[in-house]
Amino acid sequence: MKLEQRYEGKAKKVYATENPAEYIVEYKDDATAFNGVKKAQIGGKGEINNAITAHLFPLLERAGVPTHFIEKLSEREQRVRAVTIIPVEVIVRNVAAGSFCKRLGIEEGTALSRPVVEYCYKSDALGDPLINTDTAIALGWATNEELSRIRELSLKVRDFLVPFFAARSTRLIDFKLEFGKTLDGTVILADEISPDTCRFWDAETNEKLDKDRFRRDLGGVEDAYAEMLRRVTTPAQG
Ligand code: C5P
Repeated sequence: MKLEQRYEGKAKKVYATENPAEYIVEYKDDATAFNGVKKAQIGGKGEINNAITAHLFPLLERAGVPTHFIEKLSEREQRVRAVTIIPVEVIVRNVAAGSFCKRLGIEEGTALSRPVVEYCYKSDALGDPLINTDTAIALGWATNEELSRIRELSLKVRDFLVPFFAARSTRLIDFKLEFGKTLDGTVILADEISPDTCRFWDAETNEKLDKDRFRRDLGGVEDAYAEMLRRVTTPAQG
């Protein structure tokens, strides 16, 4: 049962439960971009992102990535392990896109010869600025050991998801992860993996099937999210 609200983010609300070791997460249809400057509702987004995350997290768990996911409770809700979110967002890039291209003046779609792991400080007020691991350690956001584990788990997520999506006609260009610490201090994957937090390009056409359709006013946002749910829940081709 949901008790008091613990947190409200841009896309989700988190509630306490009778069990101090568990929370309930509720997915909203709200969408924001450019650090909250652009706001809208994307119809069906909450249900789709809940369903995609609820499908992927157990697969990641089996692939050796501990996650906060316990079970899907309803169209918009899931039961998760209670964590304290580490305020370091991890971005893993397989192909250059988005802020990486802007920052470095390179063309979107440029191949990267190895994955790039970036860290940002999770702060709406500051627009999630890019940091390095020294900054996170010096300011007490995470220890060196925790950051090593976060990097290891992030690359494990990549190693699972890249072939998973490739087998479903989709290029995983980049994605953002958040990690949390359980009551006993274990680092586990939290938050979500969805078209809000990943760039997905169609393998044949490079059509964008993610939140960039909203950010860049490309239209067809709802259809793209529904298509990604279909692809995630469809058995691998070939
Ligand atoms: O904008 P940028 O290129 O840095 O985004 C990299 C990846 O991280 C994209 O898949 C984007 O959707 C995701 N991201 C996110 N939340 C943020 C920033 C980026 O999910 N606050």
